[in-house]
Amino acid sequence: MATTTTRQPGSDVGPDGRVPDELVAAYREHGFVRVRGVLEPGRIERFRAGAEAFLRAHRAESLETRGVFSQLVNVWRQDRTLRELTLDRRLGRIAEQLAGFPLRLWHDQMLVKEPHNNAATEFHQDRPYWPHAGDRLPLSAWIALVDVPPERGCMTFLPGTQHRTGLRPQDLHREEDLFEMDPSLRWIPRVTVPLRAGDCTFHSGYTGHMALPNRTDQARFAHVVIYMDEATRYSGTEHIVTDPLGLAVGAGLDGDAFPRPWA
Ligand code: SIN
Ligand code: NI
Repeated sequence: MATTTTRQPGSDVGPDGRVPDELVAAYREHGFVRVRGVLEPGRIERFRAGAEAFLRAHRAESLETRGVFSQLVNVWRQDRTLRELTLDRRLGRIAEQLAGFPLRLWHDQMLVKEPHNNAATEFHQDRPYWPHAGDRLPLSAWIALVDVPPERGCMTFLPGTQHRTGLRPQDLHREEDLFEMDPSLRWIPRVTVPLRAGDCTFHSGYTGHMALPNRTDQARFAHVVIYMDEATRYSGTEHIVTDPLGLAVGAGLDGDAFPRPWA
């Protein structure tokens, strides 16, 4: 049934906090969707300023990514402002609407492409990196905290690839890696999605995607919230989030480390 609620101009989110059925259908068909105006205008600047301050204080702790981006993981555990964004109930409910089943937070990450970083994040899928088992399709909200046109490093997707499971983790520094694994993916029309500050894309954990280099004078701030099936179990493979937790293989990824405040 079509949703008929009134929305703020420039926003796809209704006053009931839901997105129209067409966007849900688009996500299920293509494995990604853009949701405009997911952050209310009054909150964007606060989150952007919070992200900038957090980066200034923690840049040295970024994972090593050879200039592709500064990557800070699980910032929600360290910063009150960014915690508010990561645990945002409206965002989590939209993610559940798209997924169609209950979700937990897997982790968040701040991904900042510095001005003129000139390095793309090459094509990859996310789910092969994660120590997950027994799960349905996870998904990420990639939230633009500044305007992100193509020249500042927006995302490009390979529609329909959410069904291409079973590949090993790909090297996001190698342009050809994903396509060498499955040459048929090279011929899928690619969709590049520029975002205004406060917009986001949701993409599934298997949807192939890349992000363009930042060729502008302004940093590209993206805040990514990753949601997993609440039934997800620990597979035992290495990962920065689960390594310190001492989990047994097959344990549920639940409890305080993987909350679901939108329930
Ligand atoms: C990026 O923002 O550069 C890449 C994000 C992703 O791979 O999910
Ligand atoms: Ni990715």
